[in-house]
Amino acid sequence: MQPTTTRESESLVEERDALAQLERQFTGESRFAERPEGRAVVTARGLSRTYGKGDAKVHALRDVDIDFTAGRLTAIMGPSGSGKSTLMHILAGLDQPTGGRVAIDGVEITRLKEKKLTQLRRDKIGFIFQSFNLLATLTADENIVLPLSLARRRADEGWRRAVIEAVGLQDRLTHRPAELSGGQQQRVAVARALITRPAVLFADEPTGNLDSRTGGEVLDLLRRSVDEFGQTVIMVTHDAGAASIADRVVFLKDGRIELDEDRMTRDAIYDTIKNLEVPR
Ligand SMILES: Nc1ncnc2c1ncn2[C@@H]1O[C@H](COP(=O)(O)OP(=O)(O)OP(=O)(O)O)[C@@H](O)[C@H]1O
Ligand SMILES: [Mg+2]
Repeated sequence: MQPTTTRESESLVEERDALAQLERQFTGESRFAERPEGRAVVTARGLSRTYGKGDAKVHALRDVDIDFTAGRLTAIMGPSGSGKSTLMHILAGLDQPTGGRVAIDGVEITRLKEKKLTQLRRDKIGFIFQSFNLLATLTADENIVLPLSLARRRADEGWRRAVIEAVGLQDRLTHRPAELSGGQQQRVAVARALITRPAVLFADEPTGNLDSRTGGEVLDLLRRSVDEFGQTVIMVTHDAGAASIADRVVFLKDGRIELDEDRMTRDAIYDTIKNLEVPR
């Protein structure tokens, strides 16, 4: 065996951690079921989440009720500390609420044991992270089909081609992440999230690490996944422009839903955010 340098072994550790994270998320079969529009794919009732005890107790979420309809793109906004990440993590089964319940595609996830929950995440949930989370040693194509490879299943060829074409990476498939721009890397991540046809796709600040042009390309892609593939998307963002592509904008403040509106203009979103940031 070749001796490995410190840098190589560090990157191997990073690779292994990233792979483990993905593996936890996707191992096993994925579903290719059609999902009719107009149905609630994600339902949350009476969600609360507290951290800490006594004087240090923080109410990150307070009695939140919310439904997400199939085939819509929802933006979640709100000041820093308002509970956006907490809400998204609980909806995606990555964290447990202190009170209340969540159902995804009709299955109450807040009652599931870890193994079943992992299975449900793998079958029904896609993720896009701010920091892309691609595996550096795999090509774009290998990264895209990784959720299926980990599940030891083959991609449906027609769907794989449709996804790759949608993200516009036909001529970059053999490139590794380091040979791709930030926007291209995030497009690989979008394709990887779509390849399993998840019931719901969660995106946590998907354009947070991108300039406005490449961020715009990624937003356009999320919008098209809703319009062309009927994907359900829930996106946390700080950016009024990003939220203006959504069908619905939900504003959190102090762990509560402060406002829940259909499609809003960038200016209206910007003004709403400014008002929310004024302390009560
Ligand atoms: N692990 C934790 N331990 C203690 N408090 C936490 C923890 N995670 C979050 N909080 C607190 O819960 C509240 C909501 O946090 P959350 O991360 O959901 O906010 P956010 O809206 O995502 O903010 P940002 O826009 O800054 O990402 C904050 O007051 C935060 O300090
Ligand atoms: Mg957050």
